[in-house]
Amino acid sequence: MSDLRLRVENLSIDFGGLKAVSDFSCELFQGELVGLIGPNGAGKTTVFNMLSGIYVPSGGEIEFRDRRGYTYLAGKLKAAKLNRIGIARTFQNIRLFSNLSVQDNILIALHAGRAANPLDVLFRLKRFRTDEKRMITQTDELLSLFKIEKKKSELARNLPYGEQRKLEIARALASGPCLLLLDEPAAGMNPQETEELMKLISFIRNEFHLTILLIEHDMRLVMGICERLIVLDYGRIIAAGTPEEIRKNPAVIKAYLGSEAVG
Ligand SMILES: Nc1ncnc2c1ncn2[C@@H]1O[C@H](COP(=O)(O)OP(=O)(O)OP(=O)(O)O)[C@@H](O)[C@H]1O
Ligand SMILES: [Mg+2]
Repeated sequence: MSDLRLRVENLSIDFGGLKAVSDFSCELFQGELVGLIGPNGAGKTTVFNMLSGIYVPSGGEIEFRDRRGYTYLAGKLKAAKLNRIGIARTFQNIRLFSNLSVQDNILIALHAGRAANPLDVLFRLKRFRTDEKRMITQTDELLSLFKIEKKKSELARNLPYGEQRKLEIARALASGPCLLLLDEPAAGMNPQETEELMKLISFIRNEFHLTILLIEHDMRLVMGICERLIVLDYGRIIAAGTPEEIRKNPAVIKAYLGSEAVG
């Protein structure tokens, strides 16, 4: 299909005998919002680490198609290269430049996608100045999307936890991805912040024409916004389908959801 964004086949990795992920396969299409769920230690973050170039898989294939339609065998590419071709992520444990301002955290990511070449920068040519202006405007827009524009001069580390999470997503967006991987973006947020964030993620997907793979522990929320879910347990996919299919899947109920969490 022409709008295939990511094809993953039999992706596996082991750590000294522990098969953290085995034969993980999936296809993600342009514009999809898909949830990746499973109990603690199931291998969700490890899948992200392979998709984003942090771990080299011990087996399997990752094929990624960028916005222009170029296809890459992504399994062995490094994180920086994958980011340049359109795969961005956030981390379960927030990773920001904590001693830089909110604005600078975004500018650094925008910088990766800028058009000016090093000579322009050196001689402060027109293209560089225009670029700089554009980046400041884009930063303002991104920050206001996440309602943290008033904090733009504060150091990232001084932001409340929930706002740091938002800043991390804004920064991921600033790199201009077409595939966004969000690892428990609502962790540590209160229910109201979480609900708002989920709506925002859905909005961002539409607005930026993104494909999003979302790890999230709150089943009700994830089922509310995702079209499809993939369920991992002990490193293997035990179910995949629509929220309704997953909700009634006996293997999922047994492995993970528990009767009270399914509703
Ligand atoms: N670098 C590593 N070295 C050794 N073992 C690892 C490494 N990374 C992950 N693991 C192991 O792989 C398994 C899967 O871990 P992973 O962090 O992917 O789970 P998870 O589904 O994200 O869990 P959680 O919901 O708690 O975040 C765990 O048993 C973990 O201890
Ligand atoms: Mg994890």
